[in-house]
Amino acid sequence: MEWGMKNRLSKLIQSDGKALFLPIDHGYFQGPTTKLERPGETIKPLVEYADAIMLTRGVLRNCVDPKINKPIILRVSGGASVVGEDLANETIITSINEIIRLNASAVSMSIFIGSNYEHQTLKNLAKLVDICEDYGVPVMAVTAVGRELEKRTARYLGLCCRIAAELGARVVKTYYCEEDFAKVVNGCPVPVVIAGGPKVTSQFEVFNFVYDGLQQGAIGVNLGRNIWQTQNPVAAIRAIRAIIHENYTAKEANELFNKIVAEKE
Ligand code: R5P
Repeated sequence: MEWGMKNRLSKLIQSDGKALFLPIDHGYFQGPTTKLERPGETIKPLVEYADAIMLTRGVLRNCVDPKINKPIILRVSGGASVVGEDLANETIITSINEIIRLNASAVSMSIFIGSNYEHQTLKNLAKLVDICEDYGVPVMAVTAVGRELEKRTARYLGLCCRIAAELGARVVKTYYCEEDFAKVVNGCPVPVVIAGGPKVTSQFEVFNFVYDGLQQGAIGVNLGRNIWQTQNPVAAIRAIRAIIHENYTAKEANELFNKIVAEKE
C-alpha cells in the first residue's frame, strides 16, 4: 500500500484498530433533516469525540471551520432525492480535483444492490476506486437500502459488503443485523463499520447493537441520527466512544450515559 493511502487510513482508523465516524451527510437527499438544519452547530459539541466526520462538499465549505482537526470523509455520490423517483439513481457528484482541494482523508459513495440501479451504482464505485487509488484516497462504500429497510438481513448485507470490497472499497459501511452479523463481517475482506439507521426508541438499544456489532467483528460505527437526533447527543457519542475505544459493555456505556446526563451535558 502506498504511503499516502496508509497515512489517510491511519487518520480514520485509530491505533487500536477501531473507528467512530460521525456522518452529517443526510441533507444530500433528505434536505434539512431534523437537527441538521444548521449542521455546523449540530456537530460543534460532538466533533471532539469523533474520529472523522462524513459530509458533502457543500456543508463542509459552508458550515465547517477549516481549522477543524478531524479527518473528513467526503460523500461524493448523489443525484437523487426523497421526493424523486428512485433514491438509488445516483452518480458521482464530486471531482477528484475537488476531493484533493478539500483535503479529504477518504470519500464515500452508496451502492444499491438489488435495485434498478445496481449496475449503475456498482460502476460508479469501480470508477471512483480507479480515480481515487491514483491519489491514495480510500473509498468507503455505503451499502444503501433506500426506503427498503427490511432488506437488512445478513444474507443481503453480506452480499453487498463482499461486492463492495471486491470492487476495491477500502472500508465498507453497512447496517447491523441481529442474526448472523458475524457472517457479514467475516465475508468481507476489508474493515466494516456499522451505520445507525433511523433513530431507535431507546439509547440502550443503540449501545447494545454497537457493542454486539463490535464483538462480531465490526471495527466501529458511522452513526448519525442515533447520536445527533437524540435528546442527549454528547452523552450518546461519549458512551458509544467508550464502547469502541475503551471496551465498555453496553451496560457500562449506559451507566456512563446516565451519569453524563445527570451531570447535565
Ligand atoms: C445516509 O444516507 C448517510 O449515508 C448516513 O451517513 C448513514 O445512513 C449513517 O447515518 P445514520 O446513522 O443516521 O443512518
